[in-house]
Amino acid sequence: MKRYITTPIYYVNDVPHIGHAYTTIIADSAARYFRLKGYDTFFLTGTDEHGQKIEEAAKKRGKSPKEYADEISAKFRSLWDEFEISYDKFIRTTDPEHIKGVQKAFEIMYNKGDIYKGTYEGHYCISCESFFPESQLIDNEFCPDCGKETSIVKEESYFFKLSKYQERLLELYRNEEKFVLPKSKKNEVIRFVESGLQDLSITRTSFSWGIPLPPSINDPKHVMYVWLDALLNYITALGYGTDESLMHYWPADYHLVGKDILRFHAVYWPAFLMSLELDTPKHIATHGWWTRNGEKMSKSKGNVVDPKAVADAYGLENFRYFLLREVPFGQDGDFSQKALIDRINNDLGNDLGNLLNRIIGMSGKYFDFEIDSKDVAKYHQNELDAMQQILDSLDGLVEDMKWNRYLEELWKILTIANKAIDTYTPWTKMKEGKEDEAMALVALVANILAKVAVMLHPVMPKTTQTIAQALGFTIDRNAMQRLIEQKELLEAFTIQKIPPLFPKIEEPLMVEKKQEKKEEKKEDLISIDDFFKTSIKVGTIIEAQEVKKSKKLLLLQVDLGEEKPRQIVAGIKEFYAPEDLIGKQVCVVANLKPAKLMGYVSEGMILAAKDEDGLSLVTPEAKKVNGTPVR
Ligand code: ME8
Ligand code: MG
Repeated sequence: MKRYITTPIYYVNDVPHIGHAYTTIIADSAARYFRLKGYDTFFLTGTDEHGQKIEEAAKKRGKSPKEYADEISAKFRSLWDEFEISYDKFIRTTDPEHIKGVQKAFEIMYNKGDIYKGTYEGHYCISCESFFPESQLIDNEFCPDCGKETSIVKEESYFFKLSKYQERLLELYRNEEKFVLPKSKKNEVIRFVESGLQDLSITRTSFSWGIPLPPSINDPKHVMYVWLDALLNYITALGYGTDESLMHYWPADYHLVGKDILRFHAVYWPAFLMSLELDTPKHIATHGWWTRNGEKMSKSKGNVVDPKAVADAYGLENFRYFLLREVPFGQDGDFSQKALIDRINNDLGNDLGNLLNRIIGMSGKYFDFEIDSKDVAKYHQNELDAMQQILDSLDGLVEDMKWNRYLEELWKILTIANKAIDTYTPWTKMKEGKEDEAMALVALVANILAKVAVMLHPVMPKTTQTIAQALGFTIDRNAMQRLIEQKELLEAFTIQKIPPLFPKIEEPLMVEKKQEKKEEKKEDLISIDDFFKTSIKVGTIIEAQEVKKSKKLLLLQVDLGEEKPRQIVAGIKEFYAPEDLIGKQVCVVANLKPAKLMGYVSEGMILAAKDEDGLSLVTPEAKKVNGTPVR
């Protein structure tokens, strides 16, 4: 049995941040899990190096695209090496074998009639390397995905007959219930495909940093669209089109991706594969975004957290645990040192570390570190059964990539152990001369720790090896077989003392950049003069309409008692229907610098309060004359 796991290949337009580390660490944990389970596992990561975005990033720095790609690709690779990411191959799209494989694929699709030549005119977003039909643009101009300005590109282009595969794609989604993980994300893919697929422009003539068409087609003006090039990495890495000796790993079992690139993986990629007459991947496992104060962390926003700094300050494996435990797979999570510290102190320190310390202490004090499991089943069958039930559920959680649930379940096993100590109080058993009962309890807890260590190993490889060492065994395939698959206990074993694994963290260990500092200052005291710098006025909403294509924004006209109403763009669309707002009085920050949002000038800000239940506008308790100051 085999498992083939991939991460996206990351763009080399800037250095890695914790978003990239997240995907890569999930994939690494999965790869380690499957290896421990005895699967023949292949784990691929790498870098995506072609396209206009990279060409421009290189130019800005006065480098050739290849020079620049070499440099950044090496940064990704050395970070993954430092993080001991257990990849089997690191692919670069500038590798000659990749280029050959991509050309081969293009040729096959072309000869089959799935690629034809035409003209493309469209709105192109360089940042997303993607065309958008006019109907999808915001304000006829801005990219619906990232909000940046698009430019009109008209060029001769080769097209892939995506439309031809619409039905087969829908069939794939119908037949493969878990094609997209989490399952809830599949609907948006289905809706997109059902709304009608247009053929996809897959070559460009406006720049040159890309893979040329195959020599047999001989059209040197064109280079390939970076997404065609990039997606094919998943098969060229196995030798597709060159030396195909690793192709038995295909199809991929898990393509790990962020939700930003789900469509490419769940729509375009299977269509390309159908055209190539190759199997489609088993799962597109899609996680959410790490945010900073609610905003997506991204290179282009400049709000990224350096994963190496976090790992250096808090420990790589603690960081890995945090990333996987903190957010349900598929959802967004906000990164903060506080959340990380809480996980380390509570989950790792209290629940796991203390349990280990207690068992080391008791085994030394009562039994001179020599433990025997012979009476565990006699006194603790209930605990063993409860543990086994949880252990049996873990495979399924990994199959669904639900790592946070996986870790949650493992921690329930630790609770069983902690409870058992409190219930059976081995110290009283010792006093009562019931040594064998005390021994059974200590052995139970040690065995629970051993099994948890084995299952936690994919997430925390070294820490769990240290735990295993303290319990007198080593974690490997054999341990997985004996302790988990065959449900055995460690028989007679010697416990070793080790220093505490998770010393308590009292305060943040990492100095962060300005952004965070500014936020801390927010709570500082200000003078009344500072406050009066803000002009807040009562106004009445006289017009409200939707900002098309925006999920959040409404466009309002607010009467502040001035000559003409103010135009205000407010992020309240999810909470208010435009028609319900007309006539409502609100409080407006009236002296903000105007800002442009989605193409509209906003001349103020409406005050609102938002908590878990939703958002409500701040409104004067009784009607006030428009323009009345609030203080
Ligand atoms: O899209 N939170 O590369 P990319 C979580 N080259 N994950 C994040 C993240 C965040 N804030 N930001 C980035 C590309 N990621 C293409 C892929 S694959 C054939 C081609 C992670 O450098 C996440 O996995 O923009 C996301 O999908 C990926 O980085 C995008 O990396
Ligand atoms: Mg991106």
